[in-house]
Amino acid sequence: MKTNHCKLAVLISGNGTNLQALMDASFNSNFKISAVISNNPNSFGLQRAEKNNIATLVINHKEYDSKQAFEQALMIKLKEINPDLIALAGFMRILSPNFVNHYVGKILNIHPSLLPKYTGINTHQRVIEANESEHGVSVHYVTEELDGGPVIVQEKVPVFNDDTPETLATRVAEKEHIIYPKVVSWFAADRLAMAANKAYLDQELLPAGGAEIKSE
Ligand code: GRF
Repeated sequence: MKTNHCKLAVLISGNGTNLQALMDASFNSNFKISAVISNNPNSFGLQRAEKNNIATLVINHKEYDSKQAFEQALMIKLKEINPDLIALAGFMRILSPNFVNHYVGKILNIHPSLLPKYTGINTHQRVIEANESEHGVSVHYVTEELDGGPVIVQEKVPVFNDDTPETLATRVAEKEHIIYPKVVSWFAADRLAMAANKAYLDQELLPAGGAEIKSE
């Protein structure tokens, strides 16, 4: 078991509320955040990390001629950081198969929908437009397929008639901030695995909708 030694690199692009939840949890958990990398120099998440004395790094995709060059820069830095796990937390760049396959089984994402429904962006808006009664969030392993890797956990929220994308996003975010640290702590405790595009918790194959969250 990697008690207290799971080194996490968090990749962000924006506000960083999930990063905040991971940082808050890390002070009393079995993982620590080694570095926060943003492709966006204006990410508020960078300030959040600095406030917690966590190393930050900007790798601005706009300064590279190609996706390949950007990802190469990212990989060089990740090699230096040498994390046990990479957590995408609102990282708004689509990663190439080459990048993803390099870290396969060691890279997670949080996505604001009940995958496989609503991959991609603007999920809250699309859920409202489709008159869904239920929405939620998924934490999943990252694979070549965009938002398509095996789900580890999902949490559902209701959708109300008067919801706006903002009210719905707030309801979903509350769940996000609970489940992401939980999944990372499972990984840190060596309880999670991925094989043949399937996710396992404690050696048990997880169903398509991921593990059931129990109070631990
Ligand atoms: C979250 O909704 C997350 O699910 C998605 O991007 C958003 C990031 O928000 N991947 P924040 O930057 O963590 O506040």
